[in-house]
Amino acid sequence: MTARLIDGKALSDAVKADVAHRVLALKQQGLVPGLAVVLVGQDPASQVYVRNKASACEKAGLHSSVIRMEADVTEQALLDVVDGLNNDPAVHGILVQLPLPKHMNSSKVIEAIAASKDVDGFHISNAGLLMTGQPLFRPCTPYGIMKMLESENVPLRGAEAVVVGASNIVGKPMAMLLLAAGATVTLCNSKTRDLGAQTRRADVLVVATGKPKMVTGDMIKPGAVVIDVGINRTPDGKLVGDVDFESAKTVADAITPVPGGVGPMTIAMLLVNTLEAAERSAKHTVIEH
Ligand code: GUN
Repeated sequence: MTARLIDGKALSDAVKADVAHRVLALKQQGLVPGLAVVLVGQDPASQVYVRNKASACEKAGLHSSVIRMEADVTEQALLDVVDGLNNDPAVHGILVQLPLPKHMNSSKVIEAIAASKDVDGFHISNAGLLMTGQPLFRPCTPYGIMKMLESENVPLRGAEAVVVGASNIVGKPMAMLLLAAGATVTLCNSKTRDLGAQTRRADVLVVATGKPKMVTGDMIKPGAVVIDVGINRTPDGKLVGDVDFESAKTVADAITPVPGGVGPMTIAMLLVNTLEAAERSAKHTVIEH
């Protein structure tokens, strides 16, 4: 058996086309959705992510601005920038690219972003709203994964879902979204005993550990749907996921490739979150012509 590939690139193109239509409708009301991305320092991976986010915005007709700050700026200087963006009516979404330099407290910076503009969905209020079943912004990667599962018609009510990796950015919000969809959710972490015993129970398996090829075919239930969040570069420059694709594809029913799976969906959902922030602000604003 060879697993069906879940094409995140094609789905992200469809999502972005829908965003572009809705952006046009907002523009006809005189409102241009705007995203502000703050990048502190020179981390090469972050530079690539930020460039991709800005370019995706442009293509879908959203306005984007990138605010670059030196790695040695004070935390207060960053908080002042965030405060300015919170009060800027042309900015509907604010994203502070992580990781931040070590001398900064990331939680404090994230909590300084207005929850109504927190398009990453990382603010403690947005995490709490998600946990209590009243989401405002869903974190982009898990949100994109839910869209993929939906587009593949993967049944979630009563399904066994196992999430490997319990980060605030992916694993924990992923567990909440799967739970809200009616799955029975197991959230594994780096201390989990006999990981394979957990993953082999999964009808839907989401792996977000940052450890290249750590989940192998023998850890997957035949017929499972496997979502690989990892993007790791091997010494010879290849991109690989957290799942060993070659062995997994002989067992799974469907699997996301790396690259071209989850990655493109994350950016598409950032556009959705920014658009929806602008749509909500339009409801609260009388636009003068
Ligand atoms: N760094 C890696 N992924 C992300 C993300 O989704 N949002 C932010 N703000 N920083 C990141």
